[in-house]
Amino acid sequence: MKENIIINDDCVKYLSKTLKKDLQIDLSFLDPPFNQGKDYRINDDDIPEEEYWAFMKRVCKLIYNRTSDGGSIYFMQREKNTSHVMKVLEDTGWTYQNLIIWKKKTSAVPQNNKFGLHYQIIVFATKGDKPRVFNKLRINPPRLVTEKYERPNGMYVTDIWDDIRELTSGYFAGEEALRQENGERFHKQQSPISLLLRIILSSSNIGDLIFDPFAGTGTTLVVAKQLSRKYIGVEIDPKNVDEIKNRLTNLRGSDNIEKYRKDYLFTENLNKIWNPKNAQIDN
Ligand SMILES: C[S@@+](CC[C@H](N)C(=O)[O-])C[C@H]1O[C@@H](n2cnc3c(N)ncnc32)[C@H](O)[C@@H]1O
Repeated sequence: MKENIIINDDCVKYLSKTLKKDLQIDLSFLDPPFNQGKDYRINDDDIPEEEYWAFMKRVCKLIYNRTSDGGSIYFMQREKNTSHVMKVLEDTGWTYQNLIIWKKKTSAVPQNNKFGLHYQIIVFATKGDKPRVFNKLRINPPRLVTEKYERPNGMYVTDIWDDIRELTSGYFAGEEALRQENGERFHKQQSPISLLLRIILSSSNIGDLIFDPFAGTGTTLVVAKQLSRKYIGVEIDPKNVDEIKNRLTNLRGSDNIEKYRKDYLFTENLNKIWNPKNAQIDN
């Protein structure tokens, strides 16, 4: 099998040596370790900054070379690294489209001598000037006090995403967080299902190939599978890979995307990009 797989490898090695020549990636999501000294089991998360960004550049270039014309990349990072991300993408050939502000629904991280940190950035870029696919999603967030009238058919998603909750620490991470037997979270950086749902629905069609070089707990793959996209994930930690395989085989209720369908009902081509018949719930 060439696709719909999770590979236990280093993503640079996989992209340069193993990825089959006849496969083209349509959409990539990058949520790398942020090089902030986190306690990952395999990779060193505290390397010299130059080395770190050279590595990111390598990954972005390799992905670019294997992406279809008009294909997309979403690169997530801490806000303080925005200029690095922009530069890496530009230097490797990608065309900038949006700087998405993912404003956390949780409280800000307090700081001493500057404003508290309340968002993470996601840079959306494409191979070539225009995306081959861009589905204009419509959502229907609660009316603001400053808005006089109810919206009859929702509103288009903008570059500020403030309706997606991150999986914070401890109990507040909720049911979606994968947990170990002692109740601790399995992976501290697990992305929310609803974040990947928005990205994959916006920038791919059914049958497209979705790629995640830093798969972690496999959130990208779990969403791609439910949306009938093809997927390839690469993850360096074998323990994570086992967890991803399990997550993909036994879909948990908390991973099921169907509960979010109501949020996108005003999207004109929703049935074309999200086939409800593909949903499967195992618990
Ligand atoms: C921030 S986490 C990704 C979390 C993911 N978005 C999720 O929803 O679970 C980054 C992951 O990259 C993995 N990783 C680090 N270096 C890697 C490399 N060179 N190749 C592949 N995976 C790597 C780490 O083990 C970690 O699980």
